[in-house]
Amino acid sequence: MRALASFYDGLKGTVWVAERNGAVVGMIAAIPLPEDTWEICQVYVHPSLHGSGLGHELLDIAEHHARSAARFSLWTDTRFERAHRFYEKRSYIRSGPIRALNDISNSLEFHYEKPRDGIAVLDIAAAESAIPRLSYLLIECVAEGAGVSFLPPLAPERARDFWKATARDVAARRKILLAGWVDGVLAGTVTLSIATPENQPHRAEVAKLLVDPAFRRHGLARRLMARLEQEALNAGRPLLMLDTRAGDRAEALYRSMGWHELGLVPGHAAAKDGTFEDTFFFWKRVDQT
Ligand SMILES: CC(C)(COP(=O)(O)OP(=O)(O)OC[C@H]1O[C@@H](n2cnc3c(N)ncnc32)[C@H](O)[C@@H]1OP(=O)(O)O)[C@@H](O)C(=O)NCCC(=O)NCCS
Repeated sequence: MRALASFYDGLKGTVWVAERNGAVVGMIAAIPLPEDTWEICQVYVHPSLHGSGLGHELLDIAEHHARSAARFSLWTDTRFERAHRFYEKRSYIRSGPIRALNDISNSLEFHYEKPRDGIAVLDIAAAESAIPRLSYLLIECVAEGAGVSFLPPLAPERARDFWKATARDVAARRKILLAGWVDGVLAGTVTLSIATPENQPHRAEVAKLLVDPAFRRHGLARRLMARLEQEALNAGRPLLMLDTRAGDRAEALYRSMGWHELGLVPGHAAAKDGTFEDTFFFWKRVDQT
């Protein structure tokens, strides 16, 4: 703490401070780690400026500095719940075990990380920490009228409850949950439900393919689906099914990825104006090319 600049210099990293009226009111540092990863550390903002956006500004600077990184990583005290919400809002997810520090307060720390661009399969801890971003994706997609089980407006608590239940299903191995990042933002998700009857152990259902409206047409949905099909195969579920509202953007995606149309059910799902819309059902064997 007495020689921060030279300390971070020795690690080939950088430390920044924020000043207001000549006083230091915030700081952040970033150091390169092996395997194209940068660790973000020393994230502190003076309590008088909590909620002012300074934390976001500092993190923007550090992430921009490390923009060549494939992955960002950080450790945060298990008791700093406000910090956890902040990192989760910034698309970081929990990963790996808690570490114990032999410091004066016997700190226990969570590890958070995120890829710059990529897809990850989420375990229960990762799924729980992704709830703020996943809820945002669901609320936005429902608001624009997507046919994904809910009708608008979707209240934040209902979105959160939905993803909490999904996280429990992940823990119970009833669902496989994927998230995708674009430029460090958790911008897409898709779920595979593997809770099938005992006479269909080779089958699974795809649901909740959602991409943040700000990150559309970057190929994220296509990458999520390709990875999901691979994960289904790895899980011994080569026969997949899904449904999608007739005429939706997703319909073209599924057709272009080799999904077979099973048929159309007229008036299958309600729209927000009270009418009922048609739904296409599709299937695909992912062990056959
Ligand atoms: C459908 C959705 C997931 C597509 O996400 P995306 O990341 O923009 O999709 P991609 O960039 O990977 O595009 C994949 C394909 O989808 C189709 N597609 C996507 N957006 C489209 C659009 N606006 N118009 C026509 N086709 C479109 C195209 O076939 C595209 O392939 P191409 O780029 O080679 O033409 C996204 O629009 C979304 O989240 N919609 C709301 C939720 C929803 O409806 N989910 C599907 C539930 S079944």
